[in-house]
Parts: sequence; structure tokens; C-alpha cells
Amino acid sequence: MQVTPISPTIGAEVSGIDLTELDDAEFAVLHDAFVEYSVLVFRDQPALTPSQQVGFAKRFGPLHTHPAAPTLAGHPEVFVIHAHAESKVANGNGWHTDVSCDEAPPLATMLQLHLLPPSGGDTLFASMYAAFETLSPHLQEWLMSLQAHHESEHIYRGRYADRGVDDAGREYPKALHPVVRTHPDSGRKALYVNPSFTTRIDGLTRKESDALLHMLYTHQQRPEFQMRLTWQPNTLALWDNRCTQHFALWDYWPHERKGHRVTVLGERPFLEQSAPVHVDMHLSRQL
Ligand code: SIN
Repeated sequence: MQVTPISPTIGAEVSGIDLTELDDAEFAVLHDAFVEYSVLVFRDQPALTPSQQVGFAKRFGPLHTHPAAPTLAGHPEVFVIHAHAESKVANGNGWHTDVSCDEAPPLATMLQLHLLPPSGGDTLFASMYAAFETLSPHLQEWLMSLQAHHESEHIYRGRYADRGVDDAGREYPKALHPVVRTHPDSGRKALYVNPSFTTRIDGLTRKESDALLHMLYTHQQRPEFQMRLTWQPNTLALWDNRCTQHFALWDYWPHERKGHRVTVLGERPFLEQSAPVHVDMHLSRQL
């Protein structure tokens, strides 16, 4: 198995393994790489059957159920990512962490794309470790005392009506999470607010909350914290929602892009009040 970093900050490409026949030793190496790089990209895989993809995802833990999206017939764990000429929206077309509105959001997401547009449809990923670690120690300390509201009504209501979902009477999830969370495996702290689901910092006025969130979003979207994935048919990406955000570009309309997504259930986000790490990536001098 070869693990090759994609950028200095986030992501690695993994080659030389068959995800449909992973033994325990290989899975242990893969899991270590997942914790170290936050996003893993597999290029040389066959199109996994839904059962194979679900089987691989279950190696990481019990699966997460999406609160809104329709699933593949016979495979309730598989969410079909699909955008085409008639689509009104495309999934992930904005910076977010998957389903952060849930009390226990997904730990990981695994997406394999089978059908791609002639060009475009890349996905950007950003490290929320880097975003947090490059803030000044004073701001880090303050953020560690804050919690934020994450909501989903504004995102999910009616979103899948064109795929036959009638959500009348359904309540969409919301949750209060720490603004900074500790990753249970790496022990590192990551910024945990995102412009899609986070609606307000608890205890601040609307103006204060909007200003702080705007500053954090601008900071966390810096290109230095990112990698860009250009998909090929059957590329499979696995990302850690506890320490990353992503943005799936919908720049290929009216072309089609399609694949299967499976998510692994995570724990309730928590923060250990240990001293934060501060990294000077030359960024503080540029800001
Ligand atoms: C998503 O946010 O899960 C979609 C990602 C993608 O389509 O690249």
C-alpha cells in the first residue's frame, strides 16, 4: 500500500490495495492514514456494489442515517449523489461539514463517483485543524469557551421533492456544538463551524455572531488549508467530518454527475480543555 500526500496540509492518495478485500492489518494502516491525512483518495478501484461499499464503511463503525435524503432502493445506507440538467440543487455546493445539524454527526463520508461530466465537478476539502491552529492564541482561547447552533430546516425543507420526498410534518435536526472540537483519535483541536449549517454563536448578539462567523469562514476558506480533488470514474474519496469541510463545485451544468455516498456515525462533538496548539504558517503576518 502506498500513501502519497496531496498537499502539505490535507489529503493523501492511497494506491496498491483492493477495498473489496481488505484484511485487518491493511485496515489498521488505512485507519492510521485516515487519522493522519483527514481525506483519502483511492483511484484504482472497481465500481463497488452497494453491499461492498456498505461493508467497507462498516469497518469504521455503525452507519449514519441521513435525515432528509432519499436512499437507493434496497440499500437504505446509500445516498445517491446525482446532479443533471433538470436538477434545482446539487449536493454539497457550498462549504460544509456533513450533517453537522445532527446531535451525533457523521464521523466519515465515503463517496464513489461513477459518472462524471466532461470537465469540472471537482470537490475542495479544507483542514479545520489548520484553520484552528493558525488563529492567534487569544482568539483560540475565546473560541474554546463558545458553542454554536447548527440547524437544517433552511437547507433540507423541500430539497428532495423532485426525487419524491414529501417532508410535510417532518422535523429537521438542530444541535448545539462546541465551536472547537477535539478529534477523539488524533487529540487535535479543529474549528467546527460551517456556513451551511451553523446559524449562530450561542450567547452573542446577532451582530456579534454574524461578524465572528464571517471572520471565521473567511479564515477557514484560505487556499493554504485546502486540497482539490479532480475525480476520475470510480475514484472513491473518504473524508473525516470531524476535522474537514468540503465544497462540491457545480460548475458542470447541464452535464450529469452521479455516485454513491455512505456515511459512518460519529460521536457527539466534545472539547477537551487542554492547551491549544498554535502554528505560525506565515499566515498571521499576511492577514
Ligand atoms: C457531499 O457534500 O457529500 C457531496 C460531495 C461531492 O459530491 O463531491
